[in-house]
Amino acid sequence: SERIRIKDALQSAAPLDRIVIKGWVRTKRDAKGFSFLEVNDGSCLTNIQIIIDEKAAGFDELKLIHTGAAVAVIGKLAESPGKGQKWEVHATELQLVGAADPETYPLQKKRHSDEFLRTIAHLRPRTNKYGAIFRIRSESAFAIHQFFHERGFVYVHTPILTGSDCEGAGEMFRVTTLPPGYTKTGEGMYEEDFFGKEANLTVSGQLEGEAYACSLDRIYTFGPTFRAENSNTPRHAAEFWMIEPEFAFADLNDNMALAEDLVKYMTEYILNHCAEDLELFAKYVDQTLMGSLNNLVVSEFVRLPYREAIQILQQSGQKFEFPVNFGTDLQTEHERFLCETHFNKPVIVYNFPKTIKPFYMRVNDDNETVAAMDVLVPRVGELIGGSQREERLDVLKQRIQELGMDETPYWWYLDLRRFGTVPHSGFGLGFERFLMMVTGVANIRDVIPFPRTPKSLDF
Ligand code: 4AD
Ligand code: MG
Repeated sequence: SERIRIKDALQSAAPLDRIVIKGWVRTKRDAKGFSFLEVNDGSCLTNIQIIIDEKAAGFDELKLIHTGAAVAVIGKLAESPGKGQKWEVHATELQLVGAADPETYPLQKKRHSDEFLRTIAHLRPRTNKYGAIFRIRSESAFAIHQFFHERGFVYVHTPILTGSDCEGAGEMFRVTTLPPGYTKTGEGMYEEDFFGKEANLTVSGQLEGEAYACSLDRIYTFGPTFRAENSNTPRHAAEFWMIEPEFAFADLNDNMALAEDLVKYMTEYILNHCAEDLELFAKYVDQTLMGSLNNLVVSEFVRLPYREAIQILQQSGQKFEFPVNFGTDLQTEHERFLCETHFNKPVIVYNFPKTIKPFYMRVNDDNETVAAMDVLVPRVGELIGGSQREERLDVLKQRIQELGMDETPYWWYLDLRRFGTVPHSGFGLGFERFLMMVTGVANIRDVIPFPRTPKSLDF
């Protein structure tokens, strides 16, 4: 088609006699004899200015065009005399593609609150901020695939419907089938199992990922995961995306190195490929953003044994809401104190007490800690959780027993330790948490297109 995206038009080296622009009107301004439209087509943050000379023929529809309308414009790309922008369009033809009623269109020129915009999640990507967030989300996903592809990791699609609980935390959504002939009567829900078996939405693709790492050597998953934790926090969603690499012949040190490389790679990619969108966040959301991201890509992440982390927190003189002792899980306030206040760069805490970690983590020689790691980053706290896996069949079976778990559903997982077992490691990176770190957006609901949190299922 003849159409040019605004991003490309704005990068034109020379004026153009004829271009076709299609997009949505952000604002319309009338002056004597002229109208000005600011049009955005989603390709970039910047709008293109369309100038319409009302005396020229063919602009009958102009009076029907308001904020929110979809338009098609044919015109000349000409140098803009105004400051700030190099190009503008002098319209020769203008077509209203889809009208928007100015009385009822919810997005007017003023700035709207994030809370209000959540109630119109279907329209919020038409604002500068949300357009930028979701372009950055897309670029980040691309960066992840590129990172792993460059390192020979195979992308594995692990199941969404599963029979086992990876984290053993019982935070699963149960999946039921409806009986034949079921019609919604309003009398409540039917509870039926998945064709006669208990099924859940996956909380993590790790266990299945391990099977593929123990054959393809290095793999990653990248898909939606689900947690039925009813926690109304700015960092937890019921549905979120996780990146989970898993690799064979790798110990905890290799795991920490891979995690650090990945976070730096993603951050650098966004700095290089989303500069215009990032500027918006640096200007309006968090003025320290650029300094912090640039600092992250050049700094060496701190590697801190859990035991020492506890000492630092205890000796910090800070008044924490939750006290810390050996054996307590770190809360967001502790995590942020470590990476923001104390070290001012990302921190990898490792060797956690086994009492607060799942069954699959490798038990250390002290028999008190496991080879676990959490990567803590500014603005977010825990971005990554991972570990070296327990590859010794006897130790693994003993851990399952100690935790009072039923071994039966893990028969295939134990097979991996029976046949050609190998030291291996992996981690999970919360995709939305990364987006919060890189944009400074403080609520996870604002980096997911249609967030699933307690009380939000409208869309
Ligand atoms: O620490 P988690 O629970 O680790 C696992 O699920 C492992 N099986 C991963 C692995 O080793 N393959 O979760 C990993 C990351 C967290 O660090 C956090 O960033 C994110 O996933 N996360 C959530 N993000 C949004 N909402 C939630 N409810 C989240 N729960 C975890
Ligand atoms: Mg965790």
